[in-house]
Amino acid sequence: DQSNKLIYELLIKGLRSGAYKNIVILTGAGISVSAGIPDFRSPECGIYSKLKEYNLPQPEDVFTLDYFKQHPEAFYRFSKEFNKAGGYEATPTHYFIRLLQEKGLLRINMTQNIDNLEEKAGINADLFCQAHGSYNAAHCCKCDKIMDLDTFKQHVNEGTIYRCSDESCLGPVKPTVVFFGEQLNPDFDIKLPLVHSADLLLVIGTSLAVQPFNLLPLLVDEQTHSVLINLESTKKASGGSIHDFESGDAKLFIQGKCDDVIRQIVADCGWEAEFDKILPE
Ligand code: OAD
Ligand code: ZN
Repeated sequence: DQSNKLIYELLIKGLRSGAYKNIVILTGAGISVSAGIPDFRSPECGIYSKLKEYNLPQPEDVFTLDYFKQHPEAFYRFSKEFNKAGGYEATPTHYFIRLLQEKGLLRINMTQNIDNLEEKAGINADLFCQAHGSYNAAHCCKCDKIMDLDTFKQHVNEGTIYRCSDESCLGPVKPTVVFFGEQLNPDFDIKLPLVHSADLLLVIGTSLAVQPFNLLPLLVDEQTHSVLINLESTKKASGGSIHDFESGDAKLFIQGKCDDVIRQIVADCGWEAEFDKILPE
């Protein structure tokens, strides 16, 4: 409708002119779907629907600390399927974030993703935060002893459980992926204040179903332009009006596949040539 059109025009104008200098981007699994990594909650193809064959009491148990301590096999199996040989390539949406970095406009990209595609797209470590951790280090889930990451990966490949080297512990080893029941990556608390300074908030490819990450949009004030780019509304998953991108003077919900929406934004900004330069062949 008219007001959406107006906000979209303001968005493009603000991007083109460089008026937004502190762009904050919140991302989730939806931005990596075109790389070949399924999201979690999409009904047919999401990871949680595929986990049925694991026979878990609940699909989320695969990422739950108490469950892992007793039954680490499920997460090891998931990890083997998730960490495909050769890895995944970053998507146009990741490269759009990189483009904003090149323009000096990116304040911070807070992501829930654990796939390291931010790094692959060339986003600087100080400009993104992996709130839910990553497969970049490993430790014993019982005594926290640091364990060898490559050995963990070997065990994942072989389908065996890597256990704590302390004989009196023998806890299963897990990577620094954040499980339900654990604190977020400590980097989250360090970078969280940057969200306050947003002059544009872009939320891309997330259902906003998981706390505390889904509280981040609340740190941005009402007048700040806030845009949700997602296949579906986040209203129901986030349980109410706090993430309502569908009404309000400064809010906009653009429904669609994020890569398509991003390419449209890039075209409307006249940034196609620059964008093509940073996209891989
Ligand atoms: P979800 O699976 O909950 O949400 C992904 C969202 O992306 C959904 O709303 C989809 O409709 C949307 N989506 C899918 N493909 C898309 C596309 N091509 N373009 C645009 N949108 C698309 O994933 P997250 O919100 O990231 O945490 O989930 C949050 C956390 O829940 C994860 O980090 C993980 C999970 O449990 C932990 O494991 C700790
Ligand atoms: Zn231990």
